[in-house]
Amino acid sequence: MHEHLCKILFSEQQIQSKVQELGVQITSDYQGKELVIVGILKGAVVFFADLIREIKLPLELDFMVISSYGMSTRASGVVRILKDLEKDIAGKDVLIVEDIVDTGLTLSYLKDNLRARGPASLKVCSFLDKPSRRKVTLDPDYMGYTIPDEFAVGYGLDFAEKYRNLPYIGVLKPEFYEN
Ligand code: IMP
Ligand code: MG
Repeated sequence: MHEHLCKILFSEQQIQSKVQELGVQITSDYQGKELVIVGILKGAVVFFADLIREIKLPLELDFMVISSYGMSTRASGVVRILKDLEKDIAGKDVLIVEDIVDTGLTLSYLKDNLRARGPASLKVCSFLDKPSRRKVTLDPDYMGYTIPDEFAVGYGLDFAEKYRNLPYIGVLKPEFYEN
């Protein structure tokens, strides 16, 4: 385990089997649809790459880069689109792929923004969910694991851009994010 972590939440094996489960579910739900998977960079990149290979359907990929201001562990709720989708999603079945839903502010903003473009359907798949921190109603349609209010890193999740490449998910020791 990385020395900055106090515990492992999910091992590589647990992550892999959860991703497979989600892939099976999505594959069965989107038969015959025009699926566009939208990855939210950068956090979702690792989950996204694993998940799309477990979805046994024709699909298209697109990406958005979203940023909340600053490097704080507590998102401000102010969302900026740093990179928008390349393609029109009108009439498509859009599935947003995120790393984690915390307050729900990012996805709530994003869903409103994408809904206005007229997709046939719009759903959310998040690998992690921290429902105890929610500030707005936001229930992911597909979800990997629920976690308590702890700061998770690894498998794409960062603190100040670090730890994204850890192949497992762990909890950062408070001394590395408190100031
Ligand atoms: P929300 O808008 O509060 O739901 O925040 C969503 C974003 O905050 C995620 O996409 C992450 O980038 C970040 N975030 C929230 N909780 C964590 C965490 O425990 N570890 C790493 N990033 C987190
Ligand atoms: Mg982040």
